[in-house]
Amino acid sequence: MTKKNSNPMWGGRFTEASDPIMEAINASIDFDKRLATQDIEGSRAHAAMLSAQGIISSSDAEAIQEGLLTILSEINNNSFEFSTSLEDIHMNVEARLKKIVGDKAGKLHTARSRNDQVATDLKMWVRDHWDAAGCALKDLIRVLISQAEHGADWTMPGFTHLQSAQPVTWGHHMMAYVEMFGRDLSRVIDARIRLNECPLGAAALAGTSFPIDRHMTARALGFDRPSANSIDAVSDRDFVLEFLSVASINAMHLSRLAEELVIWSSAQFKFIVFNDRFSTGSSIMPQKKNPDAAELVRAKVGRLLGAYVGVLIVMKGLPLAYSKDMQEDKEPVFDAADNWFLALKTMTGILSNITVNREILAAASSEGFSIATDVADWLVQKLDLPFREAHHVTGQLVALAETKKCDLTDLTLSEMKSVYSDITEEILSILNVNHSVQSRNSYGGTAPDQVRLQIKYWKEKLTKN
Ligand code: ARG
Repeated sequence: MTKKNSNPMWGGRFTEASDPIMEAINASIDFDKRLATQDIEGSRAHAAMLSAQGIISSSDAEAIQEGLLTILSEINNNSFEFSTSLEDIHMNVEARLKKIVGDKAGKLHTARSRNDQVATDLKMWVRDHWDAAGCALKDLIRVLISQAEHGADWTMPGFTHLQSAQPVTWGHHMMAYVEMFGRDLSRVIDARIRLNECPLGAAALAGTSFPIDRHMTARALGFDRPSANSIDAVSDRDFVLEFLSVASINAMHLSRLAEELVIWSSAQFKFIVFNDRFSTGSSIMPQKKNPDAAELVRAKVGRLLGAYVGVLIVMKGLPLAYSKDMQEDKEPVFDAADNWFLALKTMTGILSNITVNREILAAASSEGFSIATDVADWLVQKLDLPFREAHHVTGQLVALAETKKCDLTDLTLSEMKSVYSDITEEILSILNVNHSVQSRNSYGGTAPDQVRLQIKYWKEKLTKN
């Protein structure tokens, strides 16, 4: 005699039990147990709607609601026993419900399928994590703003090609990251709006013959509306991809900041010092203080982008509607979210605890002939030289300073006149980095006044949303 498949949810037509390898590849409970809260919340909304629509009796609905709450508390106090043979979180919850309330548990799955159920659960999970991401990004932005406020007028070298370019202010550099993380924040807000349509009630793919009220469940679960096409509702994982892509872009931004912090903390730069709490030592070199935290933040983009590419490739070419391939979306998105938030929190911690060597920054800001552009601009403004000629004259002044192994600011007036005789002593007043940064007062420029305007703008913006 053949053994009957023991699966209580779908075993009816089967005569043989699942092969253990089948069970191993099929089961998702080890990871989708993270959807337990959302699954129960979704089921509670569905049961309430079934009862309100007269599809199940109110006494059955009440028993189901109570049973689901019992399961929720079992899960919260870790006494719930998850079973691999019950495949996933949906069937684990339903099987337990049957043990608690008996056969009426089977009525919960009326007018619903695991396909719309999992899409709804995962959307709610991702939505919670969009909200958490928004908070973590705002925390980071606040720390950057406070760094910018402290050093709105501290000069530091500005780089292009990692070569000394022009002096900038510490505040300006910090606010550059505020812009980047601010764009990430707007992506978070934007993607959350797009996600917020409820798949529940799409059932397997075609909708249902029961008189359900999808608006009611959508509302109860905090969605803006039910998703409009039931086929799309169960086959869409764009919301996972958007989460992973925004996480990847943000992690890329974090990696650039982390890289700068690593460079700045080196003995060759000494711009900043990491707090001991965010550094590690070396087991062989006693003098070492390593920026491990920043390095790990720098690395996370690899993992997050890997998750994004992984899910994108799972989804590529999948025919509509649901396919089991889509179960492979969960581990990457869970892992990505954990690591993304850890990276954000780590960066916030690092930045709120660094010491900035203001004097070293200031001294470095005048190195590498960083005020050469100011000299060229002066020649244009005061002597009416075309910019190209001013550029050439300044180049000759730099060459002269280089042969004399001194800085532009160390050239005497007569030395400068030997390059271009019309130069007057008025030029001496602009030969310093403070003048340089103050003068770049164009909108969005590095002048402390501009930086303070941006700080004000961002502080107001953060209180609004
Ligand atoms: N564990 C499944 C997943 O994560 C749930 C949906 C299963 N649906 C199905 N028809 N087998 O995708």
